[in-house]
Amino acid sequence: MFAERVLSGMRPTGSLHLGHYHGVLKNWVEMQQEFECLFFVADWHALTTHYDTPEIIEQSVWDMVIDWLAAGVDPSRATLFIQSKVPEHAELHLLLSMITPLGWLERVPTYKDQQEKLSEKDLSTYGFLGYPLLQSADILIYRSTQVPVGEDQVPHIEFTREIARRFNHIYGREPGFEEKAEAAVKKLGSKKARLYTELRTRFQEQGDDGALESAKSLLDEQQSLSIGDRERLFGYLEGGGKMILSEPEAMLTKASKMPGLDGQKMSKSYNNTITLREDEASVSKKIRTMPTDPARVRRTDSGTPEKCPVWALHQVYSSEDTKSWVRQGCATAGIGCIECKQPVINAVLEEQKPMRERAQLYLDDPTLVRNIIADGCEKARKLAGETMRDVREAMGLSYS
Ligand code: TRP
Ligand code: SF4
Repeated sequence: MFAERVLSGMRPTGSLHLGHYHGVLKNWVEMQQEFECLFFVADWHALTTHYDTPEIIEQSVWDMVIDWLAAGVDPSRATLFIQSKVPEHAELHLLLSMITPLGWLERVPTYKDQQEKLSEKDLSTYGFLGYPLLQSADILIYRSTQVPVGEDQVPHIEFTREIARRFNHIYGREPGFEEKAEAAVKKLGSKKARLYTELRTRFQEQGDDGALESAKSLLDEQQSLSIGDRERLFGYLEGGGKMILSEPEAMLTKASKMPGLDGQKMSKSYNNTITLREDEASVSKKIRTMPTDPARVRRTDSGTPEKCPVWALHQVYSSEDTKSWVRQGCATAGIGCIECKQPVINAVLEEQKPMRERAQLYLDDPTLVRNIIADGCEKARKLAGETMRDVREAMGLSYS
């Protein structure tokens, strides 16, 4: 049904805030309209850094799923599940670890960066070193084509592509590959088989990339081929073995520009957040007590919006009219800061209203959430199981 499969995960390490909403969740909600989407709670990944505070993870898992649903992630469109409920991820991680050079893991930039950044924690662990490989298993097990991630995660996707390539290189050559590939060519029917062979030769002998592309789209159109034969024919084209694991692409999510209450980027570590479903009184209070341009000591002092964190929030939430009202009123001391903050307060509350309402449904009846996740886990396990069958077979583990 879909040619693309989108997969993304989020670590349950605390409550989500409006920065997550603007940076990640809105994007997920848009993508679920267009693509087959799988979104999962990366609880094992959370354990790699929070192994000594499992209670935080446990608490955050269900809250996070409710936050996703509140934000508009739709379980009838996207598959939602929890990593640890699909133990096949761990199996693939283990099997991939057999072929993963230690140096590849040590060179992933987040490894040293995070160790330094989180220096209060001992991250010289086997699990933490393996973080990107576990992520590769998450991605490869669903044969995901697109992985929406932030800039910092791009090296993990690159790493995943290299792992997939290495795996296919080592295990892609099944016994009798050439014969099986030739048999699959015949199944295309004589006309298409001739075309495929011709294009393959043109690519292999003359390096004609156009021929390669044409051959690939020819294969894309073949509905009746089995998955195994399709992969053989793709592999045969480029001269490699059978493509067992497919290389995903990173889908870069623009860095969230969401400003926090102090003008810095909104982040839990800066203590400047508004949580996704924060109660109304607390939202109003937080915004009312936000710092403003320090030049406005008295109501009669004029100010400069550019020096004020409230202005940054107007950029996110206000219309051009409101913004010119702020600009004018601030520069001439025509408005007070409390007055200036009111439209921001209103807009945030307005944005959160449907989220609070959607969440209430799930808070009132927690079995709804459990059922959504149970369904999602079941679907995910089925997909993961298909890949694992091929992986076990390729690695000589399908004894009967
Ligand atoms: N490492 C990701 C992060 O910190 C979370 C994650 C785990 C993930 N597995 C994934 C993201 C697979 C995308 C795909 O944000
Ligand atoms: Fe900031 Fe608005 Fe006050 Fe100007 S009037 S300092 S923009 S809060």
